[in-house]
Amino acid sequence: MIGIVPSILSADFTRLGEQVREAEAAGATRIQIDVMDGHFVPNITMGPAIVEAVRGCTKLPLEAHLMITNPEEFVATFAKAGADIIIVHQEVTPHLHRIVQQIKSLGKKAAIALTPSTPIILLEDILPLLDMVLIMTVNPGFGGQDFIPEMLPKIERLRHIITEHNFACDIEVDGGIHEATIPLAVKAGANMLVAGSAVYSKHESVEQTMTRLKRAIPQ
Ligand code: DX5
Repeated sequence: MIGIVPSILSADFTRLGEQVREAEAAGATRIQIDVMDGHFVPNITMGPAIVEAVRGCTKLPLEAHLMITNPEEFVATFAKAGADIIIVHQEVTPHLHRIVQQIKSLGKKAAIALTPSTPIILLEDILPLLDMVLIMTVNPGFGGQDFIPEMLPKIERLRHIITEHNFACDIEVDGGIHEATIPLAVKAGANMLVAGSAVYSKHESVEQTMTRLKRAIPQ
């Protein structure tokens, strides 16, 4: 199943609830909340209070993308706030197995994100435990960046491993996902597509943007 996952990073924060409901009405699979701490990435965005607020606006599953250091200190807080999937970065801890166990012990789905330079081989021994791998197709920190095409072979390699071992693990891509890059990412093997600036645009409604993005998914 191929899903579109709007990231609220580019939403109009003066009417966030409306924008979340518009995405749900337009067929979003999940909603992603981009949490940034100004340490792991050069930007500060939102925290558990926003997850809690969005939780009250939609029935869709919520993904908390933790672009933060020391995520183990905040996993329980984001779980309590209403995140259904908690995404931590491979680059911030040597104890990935422990944090994946921590997330699952809270009844949440566990995902690991890789920045563009981090190889998928580092996930080899915990891939069977993961519900999802997020392959960043931009350098994390900001919306509206250009897709990094060199990530396509990385997606293909991961899809081959998951298929070969029949792992129940989604491949999600995030960064520069729009009408032109969706076919490339899906053909490479991604099945969850995070889009921020391609969904929340100043010139079109969410219904219009989501219609175009869904149409770009290869059938
Ligand atoms: C990290 C963020 C962004 C965001 C999507 O930079 O994770 O990738 O979700 O931004 P767009 O879709 O505007 O590239």
